[in-house]
Amino acid sequence: MNIIILAAGMGKRMHSSLPKVLHPIAQKPMLHHVVDTVSKLNPQKLIIVIGHEAEQIKQSFEQEKYKDIPIIWAYQKEQLGTGHAVMQGLPFVDDNYPTLVLYGDVPLISLHTLENLIQNTKNNVGILTAFYDNPVGYGRIIKYNDKVTQIIEEKDASAEQKQINEINTGIMCLPTPFLHTYLPNLNNNNAQGEYYLTDAILCAVENNLEIICTHPCLGNWETFGVNNKKQLCELERLYQQSLANQLLEQGVTIIDAARIDIRGSLSVEQDVTIDVGCVFEGEVHLAQGVHIKPYCVINNSYIGQHSVIESFSHIEQSYIQSNGHIGPYARLRPHTKLADNVKIGNFVELKNVNVDDNSKVNHLSYIGDAAVGKNVNIGAGVITCNYDGANKYQTVVHDNAFIGSDCQLIAPVTIGENATIGAGTTLTKDAPAQELTLSRAKQISIKGWKRPQKQK
Ligand code: UD1
Ligand code: CA
Repeated sequence: MNIIILAAGMGKRMHSSLPKVLHPIAQKPMLHHVVDTVSKLNPQKLIIVIGHEAEQIKQSFEQEKYKDIPIIWAYQKEQLGTGHAVMQGLPFVDDNYPTLVLYGDVPLISLHTLENLIQNTKNNVGILTAFYDNPVGYGRIIKYNDKVTQIIEEKDASAEQKQINEINTGIMCLPTPFLHTYLPNLNNNNAQGEYYLTDAILCAVENNLEIICTHPCLGNWETFGVNNKKQLCELERLYQQSLANQLLEQGVTIIDAARIDIRGSLSVEQDVTIDVGCVFEGEVHLAQGVHIKPYCVINNSYIGQHSVIESFSHIEQSYIQSNGHIGPYARLRPHTKLADNVKIGNFVELKNVNVDDNSKVNHLSYIGDAAVGKNVNIGAGVITCNYDGANKYQTVVHDNAFIGSDCQLIAPVTIGENATIGAGTTLTKDAPAQELTLSRAKQISIKGWKRPQKQK
């Protein structure tokens, strides 16, 4: 299989400096959606036709993930039409295999639908068509006795042809020798003055090739194209709805399927509940019995069994083992690792921290670059002073330590097992195990002191 993805168009109607095919659906550029899907077909050749903002599009693929996908870039200097665009890709194809044509601005086409098209096409001409309630703007499939005779563009269609609601999605599977023969002969005698790929279908009919139509397997939304921000936004919702439906089918309780956003992949175990307004980014796993309360953002994290994430919490690149209780309003920054039964309360920020079993950081703290042992209690407002403006230092808190409220732990510093740190302490030296350590100015009261009076 050769694959040619057309992505040279300019996308004027997006009113944006970003090339159209790089606009995201679920935080991933549209063109990347298409490439991710088709690379699962293991194509012999994967060719992307680019023109407008070509370098920016190429650069977007310079990432680890695409390292092993050999993309061939074909340039189309002037956008003279879809037929002309496919022709720019032809020098790179393997003539022994058919060619599948896709569009960079039709991002949600599924693997299932493509496999179905390919299997049914065999060595014939295959067109992915769909029945739209509102076919305005699309090429219409003209049939006679149930056989395709032509695809006519909206702008070239008669009033009668415009009534047809079977449309050309633009996705086609074609014998490669056929493309070599007929594409160079296309003309641009049409309403848009373009070389239409759809006119090649007319040549196929004239040469008695069999034309097979297949349809989208998951839903028409798979074939929707994006020409403006309104369509981008509508497609985003349709995509999110489909992801929510998949989760519902797996047994997740989603309080409102219209108010969840998955921007990556979310895997779940049994009895997970997700309340409204939550956003999942990158790879997130929710283990058995996890409950995510409203308006949480969770990025590339593992949330272990029976953990509860209270409202408005933000969790990034973190690992929570089991029975965690997080938030409301907690912020777990990258490399936070919590063992079993850890409680992180409101307005607590953690970064690059290991917290062992049964420990608590309940209110208003910042703990960064630290290792916290088991059964540790960190009082309200405790701060690790981990940064001197140039370097970062570690704080180590051993098992069963109790740190009173409003302490500053000036790292590097270690608190021994069972140690107690008095409230308000600025800890500059290690605190020994078992003992009470505190640094506090002596409390004094001034007898007869009067408050200043306002001067007249
Ligand atoms: C095309 C089809 C139409 C179909 C519709 C589905 C043709 C002539 N028409 O129309 O039948 O219903 O798609 O969405 O094929 N592109 C290039 N170079 C070009 C022209 C286009 O790379 O010279 C790319 C665009 O970037 C876009 C895709 O091809 O990704 C489709 O082009 P567009 O101009 O949007 O075609 P439509 O008029 O929508
Ligand atoms: Ca289009």
